Amino acid sequence: MLRQPLKKVSRSNSTPVEQSPESKQPHSSDAEPELLELKTLTDLEHEWKSKVHERLLQMIDLSLIDTLGKDKARTEIEEICLRILEEESAPVNFSQRQVIVRSIQDDVLGLGPLELLLKDSTISDILVNGAKNVYVERRGKLYRTAVAFNDNRHLLNVIDRIVSAVGRRIDESSPMVDARLEDGSRVNAIIPPLALDGPSLSIRRFAVDLFTVEDLVELGTLTDSAAKVLDAVVKSRLNVLISGGTGSGKTTLLNVASGFIPEDERIITIEDSAELQLRQPHVVRLETRPANIEGRGEISQRDLVKNSLRMRPERIVIGEVRGSEALDMLQAMNTGHDGSITTVHANTPRDALGRIETMVTMSGVAFPIRTLRAQISSAINIVIQIERSEDGRRRLTSIQEIDGMEGDVITMSELFTFRRDRMDENKNVVGELVPTGVVPKFHRKLAGKGIDLPIEMFEHSWDQNGS
Ligand SMILES: Nc1ncnc2c1ncn2[C@@H]1O[C@H](COP(=O)(O)OP(=O)(O)OP(=O)(O)O)[C@@H](O)[C@H]1O
Ligand SMILES: [Mg+2]
Repeated sequence: MLRQPLKKVSRSNSTPVEQSPESKQPHSSDAEPELLELKTLTDLEHEWKSKVHERLLQMIDLSLIDTLGKDKARTEIEEICLRILEEESAPVNFSQRQVIVRSIQDDVLGLGPLELLLKDSTISDILVNGAKNVYVERRGKLYRTAVAFNDNRHLLNVIDRIVSAVGRRIDESSPMVDARLEDGSRVNAIIPPLALDGPSLSIRRFAVDLFTVEDLVELGTLTDSAAKVLDAVVKSRLNVLISGGTGSGKTTLLNVASGFIPEDERIITIEDSAELQLRQPHVVRLETRPANIEGRGEISQRDLVKNSLRMRPERIVIGEVRGSEALDMLQAMNTGHDGSITTVHANTPRDALGRIETMVTMSGVAFPIRTLRAQISSAINIVIQIERSEDGRRRLTSIQEIDGMEGDVITMSELFTFRRDRMDENKNVVGELVPTGVVPKFHRKLAGKGIDLPIEMFEHSWDQNGS
């Protein structure tokens, strides 16, 4: 499906949310998401686009277009398309012609219908479920869009273009691929026979407008005091594990937390797909490499963690621990590489530790369970749980300090917890991240490092709030 050029897609007609805090719109998880109004092509424009596109393909050799360079190719396509429209006496006015040309240029040179969405920097995720279902996320809220591909073949062509640009391929024999767009956005594509309803594409945009800690406070993800605690925890080199489900905001929080690392420290980041954007000057970014088409040459996170230890790191930031690198990470944390931060996919802090345990077991090194847990409990100091609640907002739901072991069990103390009061009439969750009254053990350590965190911050405030 076609659409008008971006300049016509004004924010005011395309979104119900204008202020930066997340939507105050009614939101219900079981209802179909709202439609995001984007200006797509009229039937007439669509009809002429198809005609012109077809003739264009007869007239030019697409492989030659690729050799021209983007700007030249755009101009060339524009000239030819306008000429065809002229010759055919198409009943479309000047601005409609521009729209048709732009859309053909996007199809021939770009990512087709996705271009419109990619140009909108407020869109953070693009989710394509088959040719006709395109969803986007904007400021934490999911929308349906009228953007569509002509058919699954059209969608497949776009996917093919994305993955071949990074030297990978997608077909029946390798139907799942991770790739990256030129701008750094993370892409996953999965096609039939694995995807039952047509090719599916998930794009996590490379954040242009990075969230700052102030943004997260304003969005209600965490409170001002929790932000100060996070700052202090990072500065005092405690090892932090951020835990959360898919899309809960782990990477975003990791980025913000890493922002508290002092500028003069040497930071090494390790990721499967580079998303972190640290502002410090002394950062070495490492990214894994998947196996090539012959199945060779893979460099895993584990390889990178091991290598990073030889790079004189002062901080190691791992985007997400997913596998056997958990073992090397724990060993690093326990052998003087403190101040490391990472994330893990888990639904509670307790599960997060369980996941790490399982990952270490997967590495093939057999530890007695108690030894393993003792390693985990001495390596990790803080576990932060983040959640995407049913109203679409991301919130910290718990901050826990790991105390040690009791028998075979790792013990933790909850320092902050999300106290959920109710759901308001717009189906927004009402509640607050409050201190539990437990003064963390690390409070002393902070004082020793000259970091002053008022003890009142941890005081139980529930009663003052009338509950
Ligand atoms: N605190 C927040 N408030 C609102 N939106 C957020 C917040 N944190 C992240 N987002 C948005 O949510 C999406 C997911 O964020 P992020 O990549 O940080 O999550 P994740 O948990 O790392 O996801 P994944 O499981 O895919 O790795 C992004 O589009 C991001 O812009
Ligand atoms: Mg992530």
